[in-house]
Parts: sequence; C-alpha cells; structure tokens
Amino acid sequence: MKFNHILSETSDHITTITINRPTKLNALNKETTQELHLAFKNAEGDSGTKVIIITGSGEKAFVAGADISEFAHFSVSEAENLASEGQALLFDFIANLSTPVIAAINGFALGGGLELAMAAHFRVACDHAKMGLPEVSLGVIPGYGGTQRLPQLVGKGRAMEMIMTAGMIDASTAFNYGLVNHVTSQEDLLVLSRKIASKIMRNSSVAIASAIIAVNAGYMEGQNGYDEEIRQFGKCFGTADFREGTTAFIEKRKADFPG
Ligand code: COA
Repeated sequence: MKFNHILSETSDHITTITINRPTKLNALNKETTQELHLAFKNAEGDSGTKVIIITGSGEKAFVAGADISEFAHFSVSEAENLASEGQALLFDFIANLSTPVIAAINGFALGGGLELAMAAHFRVACDHAKMGLPEVSLGVIPGYGGTQRLPQLVGKGRAMEMIMTAGMIDASTAFNYGLVNHVTSQEDLLVLSRKIASKIMRNSSVAIASAIIAVNAGYMEGQNGYDEEIRQFGKCFGTADFREGTTAFIEKRKADFPG
C-alpha cells in the first residue's frame, strides 16, 4: 500500500513503520494518524509479521507531537473528537494489538510523539533522544493517553512533574525512570530493536498475544487483571502452540510453534 507520510516495510518477519514527515519533525497530522492506523492494521493482519517496530525518519525526531497547526483553531467539541478518535484509531489500537510493538525513539518524542511511544508495548531510545509532554506550555493537556500511560510507566510524582513543567528529559533519565528499556547509539537503534524482536519471535506468538491481553487488563477500568490472567492461562492449554512448546521441552528439542 502506498502512503504519503509513512513508510512500511517487512523483512525477516519484522514490519518497520517509519513516520516520514522530517520537515515537520514527523508531527502527527490527521492523515499521518490515519495512515499509521492502516499500517498497524495491515501488519496485525499479516501472518508473516511477528513484531512491529515504529520509528521516525531522520536523526532529529521520532515525533514532535500532534500537528499544532491543525488543531490551533479547534472548538471544545472538535478537540474532544480529536482526542477520542485519535485514542481509538491509534493509541489504544496499538496498545491492544496482539502483535508486539516496539517503539524505537530516534530523537524528539514530544506530546503525541511520547504518547505514541508509550502506546507501544515497550521502548528503546537512542542516546540523543529527548522526551516530554509539553502540552501545558500550549494551554492544553496531553490528549492521547499521556496523563494515564506516563504515570503507569514512571510513577505519579515523576509524571506530574514532567507534565507540570512541560520539560524534556534525556534518554538516560528516561532509562532511570523506566520509560525506556534500553539506550543505544543512533546507528544501533534499529539493530538493537531488531535483535530484541528476534528474541521475541522465538516464542509462541499465540501465548504472547494472551500475555498482552492479561497485562493490559490490569490497567483497564472495570477489569480484573488476575481474573484475565486465569482466563488466558487456561486458553493457552487449548492451543497447538502449547502442545508444541511442552512436547519440544520434553523431547529436548527447539520448539517450532505453528501459531
Ligand atoms: N506541530 C506542527 N509542526 C511542528 C511541530 C508540531 N508539534 N513540531 C515541529 N513542527 C515544525 C515546525 O513548525 C517547523 O516547521 P517550519 O520549518 O515549517 O516552520 C519544523 O517542524 C521544524 O521545527 P523547529 O521548531 O523549527 O525545530 P527546532 O529544532 O527549532 O525545535 C522542537 C525543535 C521539537 C523543540 C520544536 O519544534 C517544538 O517545540 N515543537 C513542538 C513540540 C510540542 O509542543 N509538541 C506537543 C504538541 S501537542
């Protein structure tokens, strides 16, 4: 599929989606958000894709936020729509995909950019990356899940400080906060992300999909994560992947998961 603002390519069972608006520091306008939704949907539906990596083009920015020029004139109801449609189409959509999503943060991840990285299942950053939620400096608050996902990842106090100061943290602070799992050089960013993806791919994709549902359930209003874990644990026992995984262990061979 041909996109205007993103690139999507698949190799070795990894689909890499690259936001490609470098002159606007990869800011998320409406069309980019829609294209990202489609690219993630296609990757999820592609049986050849085992892991998705999301990154930004160039060395300066992952995503410098939602496109400010697009929403500057919005009314209250238009703003609510922007946030709710964006959350449904992209941010919650990514967080709830069955296919693991790694954000490879190659530069500024600000506002909607950090929210996009936080919607991924985990994050890897290059050493010059800068992260922040600067929305209150514009007279608004994060609207793509940032007020919820940042405290979940770094704790309430750190999130409050980041949101209230509108400041940026560097990659090593993000690592110390637990916001990113690894920090590496720019040139190794995709190499490391792909290496982690390869480790993930050795395991059962069916079990991984169940694990994502169980982990996410603990962060969802009205859901009990422990109950969901029991359900997903039981469900795994009915899968061909479970039969292959346990049989391979007993037969002292490497599992070849059908899922
Ligand atoms: N929305 C729309 N356009 C954006 C953007 C955004 N969030 N972030 C950057 N851009 C555009 C700039 O307007 C500029 O476009 P122009 O060349 O047509 O004028 C281009 O990207 C380059 O950005 P610029 O500000 O000139 O780069 P810089 O190196 O001086 O500063 C940043 C980099 C990231 C510090 C700065 O761009 C910035 O603060 N961006 C906004 C961050 C933000 O508040 N995000 C949250 C939005 S809710």
